[in-house]
Amino acid sequence: MTHIPHTLSTPLDPPELRKAFGGFVTGVTVVSALDGDGVPRGLTANSFTSVSMNPPLVLVCIDKKAASHQVFSQATGYAVSILGADQRDISKLFASKAPDKFEHCATFTAVTGAPLVEGAVCWFDCEVHKSVDAGDHLLLLGEVRDFHHTTGIPLAYCRGNYIDFGLEQEAVGTGRNLVYGAIADSGGRVLLTRDSPTGRWSIPCARGGEARAVQSEHAPGGLPRTLEALGAKVALSFLYSVFDEGPDTLIVYRGIVQNETNPTATIQGAAFFSEAELPWEQLASSQVRNMLRRYFVERGNDRFGIYTEAAGCGSVAMLEGSPTPWAQHARSLDSTC
Ligand SMILES: Cc1cc2nc3c(=O)[nH]c(=O)nc-3n(C[C@H](O)[C@H](O)[C@H](O)COP(=O)(O)O)c2cc1C
Repeated sequence: MTHIPHTLSTPLDPPELRKAFGGFVTGVTVVSALDGDGVPRGLTANSFTSVSMNPPLVLVCIDKKAASHQVFSQATGYAVSILGADQRDISKLFASKAPDKFEHCATFTAVTGAPLVEGAVCWFDCEVHKSVDAGDHLLLLGEVRDFHHTTGIPLAYCRGNYIDFGLEQEAVGTGRNLVYGAIADSGGRVLLTRDSPTGRWSIPCARGGEARAVQSEHAPGGLPRTLEALGAKVALSFLYSVFDEGPDTLIVYRGIVQNETNPTATIQGAAFFSEAELPWEQLASSQVRNMLRRYFVERGNDRFGIYTEAAGCGSVAMLEGSPTPWAQHARSLDSTC
C-alpha cells in the first residue's frame, strides 16, 4: 500500500490501522478468571505482555465488547496460559462465543483459583494489580503469584494467521520419510555425527514417527534420546529448517546444549565443531552445508529465519505468506481479532 502522508487533523482509516496493528507478531494466550459464582470464564488474547520484574507484572487488554469483560473488570485474580503450537483448537475455542468453553478444555488451578489450560507451554497466575480504562479496552495489570515454563514450542499469530513453528505436522502424510534433526549449539560449536560407511558428517538425526517428541520436555525417545545417547542434554527450541534430501524430508530444530561438554572430544563418531573447524567438504549433503552456513551467519547476527524447501524451490519463511506447502495452512485460518 502506498503511504499517503497524514496531517494531524486527517482521521485515521480504522481498517488500515487494524492491519497495521496486526503486523506485530505475538504469541497466543488464554486469559481466564472466575466469575462471582466461581464459574470459569476465558478468552483468547494476544495482547499479553510482560511489564515489570520488580514487582513481577504482566498485562492483558480485554475488549469491552467481550462477554467476559465484566468478569475481568471485577476479578481479583486471573490466569494467563501461553498456548503451544499444537493448541490452535484451544485458541479457536476461547476466541468463540461458546457458553461452555471450559467443558471442552482440560484445566487445573494454581494459587488464585483461576483456571489454567492443561498443556500450555508457560503460564502465569496473577492477582489483579491495577485495571486501567483505555478506550475500548480494559488494561489488566497482574502481579504474578505463580508461574511455570517449559521448552514447548509456542503458537504464534500475525496478520490474522496462526503461525505454527512446528510446521512438521504438515509434512506428515506426504509419503516421504520424515527425519528429525537438531543443530545442537554449545557456545558456538555445533554437534555433528559421522556416518560410519561414508565417513560424512551431518547433524544428529532421528527417524520419523516421533514428531511430537521434540515438542515436550517430558516426551521420551526420538530426537532427544538420540542427543542424550551422544552425551548432549539439549533444550530444543524453534523449528529451523525443513528440506528434502533424497527420499527424506529433514525437519531441523535449533537447540542449546545444557550440560558441560568437552568441545574437542569425539564420542561415538560425534564431535563439536566451530565454524572454522567444521569439515565443510565432508558434509552429508549440500543442503546440510547450506543450512549450517546460514546458521553461523544468523547466529553471528542473532537473527534467525525458518528455511523451508520443497521440490527444489526454497525460501526463508518469515512467518506470513510462506509459499511452502507446509505453511500454506496458516493463511486459511479465520480470526475474530
Ligand atoms: C489470536 C486472537 C487474539 C485475540 N486477542 C484478544 C485480546 O487481546 N483481547 C480481547 O479482548 N480479545 C481478543 N481476541 C478476541 C476474543 O478472544 C473473542 O472476542 C472472544 O470471543 C471473547 O470471548 P467472550 O465474548 O466469551 O468473552 C482475540 C482473538 C484471537 C483469535
